[in-house]
Amino acid sequence: MERKILITGGAGFIGSHVVRLMVNKYPNYLIINLDALTYAGNPANLRDVEEAPNYRFEKVDICDVEAVRKVFEQYEIDSVIHLAAESHVDRSIDDPFAFARTNVLGTLTLLQVAKERWLNGAERDAKHLFYHVSTDEVYGSLGAEGIFTESSRYEPHSPYSASKASSDHFVRAFHDTFGLPIVISNCSNNYGPYQFPEKLIPLFINNIRERRELPVYGSGANVRDWLYVEDHARAIDLIFHRGRIGETYNIGGNNEWRNIDLVRLLVRTTDRLLGRAEGEDESLIRFVRDRAGHDLRYAIDSSKLQNELGWSPEVDFKEGIERTVRWYLHNDEWLSAVTSGEYRNYYSRMYDGR
Ligand code: NAD
Ligand code: DAU
Repeated sequence: MERKILITGGAGFIGSHVVRLMVNKYPNYLIINLDALTYAGNPANLRDVEEAPNYRFEKVDICDVEAVRKVFEQYEIDSVIHLAAESHVDRSIDDPFAFARTNVLGTLTLLQVAKERWLNGAERDAKHLFYHVSTDEVYGSLGAEGIFTESSRYEPHSPYSASKASSDHFVRAFHDTFGLPIVISNCSNNYGPYQFPEKLIPLFINNIRERRELPVYGSGANVRDWLYVEDHARAIDLIFHRGRIGETYNIGGNNEWRNIDLVRLLVRTTDRLLGRAEGEDESLIRFVRDRAGHDLRYAIDSSKLQNELGWSPEVDFKEGIERTVRWYLHNDEWLSAVTSGEYRNYYSRMYDGR
């Protein structure tokens, strides 16, 4: 195999799209998906590639240094694409320690093992790369004007974004201090198939279908920049292969939506696809207590990635939303398994028994 790439968090939402792209596009790469299968990880997200000859799965916690070491040794890992994380802001408000553990200590564990394996005095190998996948939330919140660039100040507000900011700093510190070859990308809000239905878009599609209330935080005036998940996966592929060592690349959809407008679009699209009168389920909208520390607006300037590597988003937002709503409506088996927690028991038994 030409490359042996460890992808962490590959059983999650974005990770599963990255694994699928890499397994299918690069038959000469061995892709090792390392994932602890928390509530957010679901191997069923990768059912279509799990039999591929260039795919392996390892159920491992990134905080378990011995287990991580073993995987690096066993497969002679030459590069890492690190996505494993606790990713939901609301959960980070309830339990910040879980976020410090996985996002900070877990990232540090991976860095330490990569350093031991790759910088042990032997000649440098040009294949070595630690690619850290991060978020635009590290830059904090914007007012009505402005845009995040790669040199924007770090100003995280939630325990989630604080933990991601900390992990970004550790990744850069390992580059600056030890010479570990790293690259970082900071992306805006993703949407698409296989996203866990605690996040706004899949949660609301499911609620509309079930005719449950749609809890919009505050006045719904917060703004997010939405990107179709496959566009993010393509950007990761490009940055992995052609990004400059030590650099940061911002990734975004140039596609800002106020939450309330997005919710109305979701209602109209879901109603139409269910054969209901378009917009009739707007009556389900409830304005509820705001999220603590709720960032008002994110907007990201991805011109560095566009100019240097020729990336741009390909999926038009309305088309992406239509595809996404259709996917959730046609995959109610996946959705009910995820929401019941049944898949977790099933797959944990399966992989623990190996
Ligand atoms: P997700 O919650 O859907 O998936 C996270 C995955 O990590 C799951 O498979 C989970 O089992 C695994 N995991 C969690 N803790 C682990 C641990 N201790 N050891 C091993 N595996 C563990 O997350 P996502 O939305 O796909 O996000 C993936 C990455 O991209 C995260 O680093 C996140 O910060 C970043 N990101 C997400 C978005 C977004 O909009 N979702 C945007 C920008 C960046
Ligand atoms: O910007 C990138 C980030 O986007 C990622 O780093 C995070 O992992 C990802 O979860 C996402 O964070 P957000 O907090 O922006 O996503 P979420 O889907 O939780 O919420 C989107 C917006 O919708 C936000 O302004 C809060 C609001 N919201 C969310 C939920 C779940 C509601 O109004 N009601 C809800 O029930």
